[in-house]
Amino acid sequence: MEQTLVIVKPDGVQRGLVGAIIFRLERRGLRLSALKLLQVDEMRARSLYEVHLDKRFYNTLVSYISSSPVVAMVWQGLRAIDIIRSTMGATDPAEAGPGTIRGDWGLNIGRNLIHGSDSPESAGREIPIFFEADEIVHYSRALDQWYSENEL
Ligand code: RTP
Ligand code: MG
Repeated sequence: MEQTLVIVKPDGVQRGLVGAIIFRLERRGLRLSALKLLQVDEMRARSLYEVHLDKRFYNTLVSYISSSPVVAMVWQGLRAIDIIRSTMGATDPAEAGPGTIRGDWGLNIGRNLIHGSDSPESAGREIPIFFEADEIVHYSRALDQWYSENEL
């Protein structure tokens, strides 16, 4: 079963969009497995974005994610990574389609509201930066069979 790390970034928390973002992911049928509000310190920020170390926007990205609290979550489900990435929309909100989180509520690439792991390898690296194994809860829901004909 696929797991993915989702972060409501500081702009999403400050703008009061946490509930709206969670609502959209829940409505897709994905299962919430872990959730916490935290202030990201510089070490965690650098670790999360280490793949972007050589990019010109690396330092501003590290400052942005650590500028104010975030909500970190683990979501689980069939094809959770692709489904969440498409629900988020393109990296640049100006290019994100309507109906996506970034397309509906975002304006600027430097304030794009949400992070989602981009592959199973990224999820496997990113989730432990934010969660201990015993903070990820495995459970089933009575309605799972009405979201998917296969095991969620
Ligand atoms: P994320 O990692 O946050 O889910 O976003 P993403 O996969 O859609 O985009 P990625 O290429 O991984 O970039 C990570 C974050 O860096 C910021 N960014 N700024 N100024 C720029 O050209 C630029 N490009 C990327 C965005 O906050 C992006 O989400
Ligand atoms: Mg990314």
